[in-house]
Amino acid sequence: MSLDPTRLRRLRRTSALRAMVNETALRPTDLIMPIFAGTGGDRREPLAAIPGVNLLAGASLEREADAIVRVGVPAVLVFGVLDEGSKDAAASEAVRPGNAVCEAIGRIKNQRPELMVIADLCLCEYTDHRHCGILREGRIDNDATVAVLAEAAVVLARAGADIIAPSGVMDGVVAALRRALDAAGLSDVALMPYSAKFASGFYGPFKAASQSTPQESRHATHQIQVGNSREALRKIAVDVEEGADLVIVKPALTSLDVLALARDTVPVPLVGYDVSGFHAMLAHHCGTDAALRRRLTCELLTCIRRAGAKLIITYSAKDIAPHLE
Ligand code: PBG
Ligand code: ZN
Repeated sequence: MSLDPTRLRRLRRTSALRAMVNETALRPTDLIMPIFAGTGGDRREPLAAIPGVNLLAGASLEREADAIVRVGVPAVLVFGVLDEGSKDAAASEAVRPGNAVCEAIGRIKNQRPELMVIADLCLCEYTDHRHCGILREGRIDNDATVAVLAEAAVVLARAGADIIAPSGVMDGVVAALRRALDAAGLSDVALMPYSAKFASGFYGPFKAASQSTPQESRHATHQIQVGNSREALRKIAVDVEEGADLVIVKPALTSLDVLALARDTVPVPLVGYDVSGFHAMLAHHCGTDAALRRRLTCELLTCIRRAGAKLIITYSAKDIAPHLE
């Protein structure tokens, strides 16, 4: 006597059963909300390139921190949008205590001490040529760049950052930042490097929003070429060895294979970055249909977590959090 066919649909019959067997939860505590901090007084200006996200300054930063805490999102990732006049070839503004990013961090921490503040750290926001590092003979000089980043990391940590996220993919930056922070008595400040950061065209809206697009990109000389998953895993391993507390994989949606490979071998939490290009595409596709936008956002974020990310940086964090279980 033959058995009935396997009935996998038994566990799909009701929403209660489906919830019981759900393998991948998506909660507000899994999300990190990016913040673009500008200079000057109270500002809240929509960023044309990144739908639904604003450039903030002054008291608006405090209101944003309140709103993010209210929906249960535990962390923000802060980017600086600086005045062109403060930029130079040496990225001097990056190491000036009290710069716009430090001021923003201070305001957020003062308003909401429980909100974890992650400071993105790359020189492209501070250099007049908009490259991610210090130039020497037309090339981005690794060690000169790392020296400035180490100094800037201490400045950001003193301003109140809980986590520093070096995003320029320089070699040795994690070890150098760890050493500099420890020497300054800031050993509680964690490091979250962009380790598996691919040279991607999907950062376009972000580059426009943060006014950090160089005339002629040299990103291919520091970011990882998109075909190379083994190199990405190697960079993750090197950064963990140097002291990374968490590592970022980016763009998450085109790196699900890297997340899946890393989840079983990398001993620190993995963070997927749902980047600006995908955010803009989704917004464009959904138009004014907010329900569709929520549904598709949930699906994409769940898949990033299913692949292996513990945390996700997403421009949708604040909007989607109230709609998660
Ligand atoms: C570097 C940085 C970038 C992004 C985050 N941090 C741009 C770059 O490396 O060129 C991209 C984020 C996104 O596209 O959403 N400051
Ligand atoms: Zn950069």
